[in-house]
Amino acid sequence: MTPTAHLEAAWTERLACPKCGGSLRVDTPGAAQHLECAACAARYPVRDGIPSFVDLAGTPQAAEIAQRDNEAASYEGLFFAWESFLEVPPIVRDLDPAPADWVLEVGAGTGRVVREYIRSVTGVVAVDFSFESLRHIRRSLDLVPEAQGKLVPVHADACALPIKPGAFDRTLSCGMLQHLPSEDHRARAISGMAAALRPGGRFVMQARHWSRTHAFYEVRKHSAFARRVASFLIGNASGGVDVPRSATYADGTVSLYNTPAAELRELAERAGIHVDRLVGRIQAAKGMARLGVVRPLVERAIEHTPLSLLAAQEVVVVGTRTG
Ligand SMILES: C[S@@+](CC[C@H](N)C(=O)[O-])C[C@H]1O[C@@H](n2cnc3c(N)ncnc32)[C@H](O)[C@@H]1O
Ligand SMILES: [Zn+2]
Repeated sequence: MTPTAHLEAAWTERLACPKCGGSLRVDTPGAAQHLECAACAARYPVRDGIPSFVDLAGTPQAAEIAQRDNEAASYEGLFFAWESFLEVPPIVRDLDPAPADWVLEVGAGTGRVVREYIRSVTGVVAVDFSFESLRHIRRSLDLVPEAQGKLVPVHADACALPIKPGAFDRTLSCGMLQHLPSEDHRARAISGMAAALRPGGRFVMQARHWSRTHAFYEVRKHSAFARRVASFLIGNASGGVDVPRSATYADGTVSLYNTPAAELRELAERAGIHVDRLVGRIQAAKGMARLGVVRPLVERAIEHTPLSLLAAQEVVVVGTRTG
């Protein structure tokens, strides 16, 4: 596809060189082949209207990217409708999008969340290291009139974001942090997202949760009683009671790290985010599934109590960029 004027304007106004932070310019306006850094002369290819900053060939993450590219068309079929119903509307409420906003979503995947708020804002820079997932988002919005001219897909690594500091009103990440393979990767992603925000901007991050119940069970594995209590509370959340905090799946290509709530708070605070709310979502206690249509209401009620971090499958931090 030919890059349109709105894409070129967004690239130059909101992106920056991931190597040196320099401004980017389009090599040939109207027919971009590359973005070029004005400071260090690095060049980044534009393919099919999507600038590409990913340079992970030869690293362990190359296999993960291939896995995400392969599953792009079928990814959303992995979710039960009720899962997305419990997960996505509350995240959009946390984001609280407003018409003038520019949103940066990192690990946007195939656009399951993007589609739910893009109509309500001015622009969305959707970052993922799976090129095919980004193309999927774009295709899925092709026929949505209120989304036209708003989506800016960017192929980049969450841990080396090509983003101009302060260029966004809101940043969002849903289900991405757990796939970053080390604490250093997670810290870089969170500080990059925090730096992308203007002062007062809103930071929303959701990740797989290492619940209090998991932590309790981890040190009492020898006790049959502890196991009964934990499996009653945890059910299948975060992979079930016996899934360790760090694991892999898809033949070992995808890391899976369950984030303790305190750690998420600490990473956000270290990045200059004032934490307004830290809550657990999707309580996995056996019996919750039987609540049927009232479950979302019960989930919301629990969220306002200290119980929310007990056995939740997800942890969510909502904060504000200070400074
Ligand atoms: C579990 S999916 C979630 C997708 C989407 N946010 C949703 O909720 O449906 C995680 C996404 O994060 C992306 N991802 C993982 N590590 C990444 C990284 N280092 N840089 C950019 N994207 C990454 C994957 O390609 C994948 O699309
Ligand atoms: Zn540069």
